[in-house]
Amino acid sequence: MIATALTELLRIRVPVVQGGMQWVGKPSLVAAVSNAGGLGILTALTQPTPEQLRVAVRETRAATDKPFGVNITLLPTINPPDYQGYARAAVEEGVRIFETAGNNPSKLIEYLKSNGCIVIHKCTTIRHAKSAERMGVDVLSIDGFECAGHPGEEDIGGLVLLARAAQELRIPYVASGGIADGRGLAAALALGAAGVNMGTRFMCTVESPIHPNIKDTIVKATEQDTIHIFRTLKNTARVFKNSVSMEVVALERRAGGAQFSELRDLVSGARGKLVYENGDPDYGIWSAGVVLGLIKDIPTCEELVKRIEKDAEDTIAEMSKRVRPMAKL
Ligand SMILES: Cc1cc2nc3c(=O)[nH]c(=O)nc-3n(C[C@H](O)[C@H](O)[C@H](O)COP(=O)(O)O)c2cc1C
Repeated sequence: MIATALTELLRIRVPVVQGGMQWVGKPSLVAAVSNAGGLGILTALTQPTPEQLRVAVRETRAATDKPFGVNITLLPTINPPDYQGYARAAVEEGVRIFETAGNNPSKLIEYLKSNGCIVIHKCTTIRHAKSAERMGVDVLSIDGFECAGHPGEEDIGGLVLLARAAQELRIPYVASGGIADGRGLAAALALGAAGVNMGTRFMCTVESPIHPNIKDTIVKATEQDTIHIFRTLKNTARVFKNSVSMEVVALERRAGGAQFSELRDLVSGARGKLVYENGDPDYGIWSAGVVLGLIKDIPTCEELVKRIEKDAEDTIAEMSKRVRPMAKL
């Protein structure tokens, strides 16, 4: 058993979190991760309205009696969704664990903390992590450059970012980005983390609600199959490398760059959603991390979490055999 500050705080068996994933973090996956001993997280904005989030929370609760959370992602958009409404619906439904992500989270964090919730806040820099610590969050999720989705603009890989977290942070943190197996969990623990957060790996499980073709695409992909879009707009996102994402990058790189308005149709969320529904990996933009190269199968969440737990324990035991004190002369 790997007991950490995270397993104690969240009352979970294994220090493995399934991060919020737009169009993927639905009740079937969330309940499966929680039933397997990790922490499943529903993605609020995948539900069209706060009322539908209520239904998703109830559906998840019917499928697991274990703790699970809700992700609320604050987007850089002119017409923001009803974040407060989503948060209130989840709190009223009894959810007590939240993952927050995105810009200017202070009002949301304040609301959640005043309702007795545990808040895990996702950050890509130590500066933001320390600021969230001051806002009173309970756990930080430190997303390195390898991660799917938004790695920030500073390009700091997980190894240095986590070692910096060990130097600077006082509250528990989980390692996010680039983790798919027990070796990754053992490494994260060595870097001072209280557990790991995984996205891409959980996308490729039996209970993940995406089209089987996309799971097969993930299994066939390598660590070279992601690309960064929106670098020039300072809103970098790591996504699967396909004809659409390559077209976006080509437009961004042409002389004079590209305005968001010119990219809007290519990157639309509606097209991304259809990738998961229709199974055509070239239909739109979809998030994926460098861990694509580590994923070789489509296990159940139970099999995956058990395997990660056992492999992490074996890795730690094997390492302690390799590191022997120097013989006295
Ligand atoms: C398909 C997909 C959708 C994602 N959507 C969100 C999201 O809506 N909000 C968020 O905070 N993170 C999102 N993420 C990021 C994950 O929560 C997690 O931080 C990331 O996947 C970690 O990197 P990894 O994929 O290398 O494990 C998404 C990731 C994936 C793969």
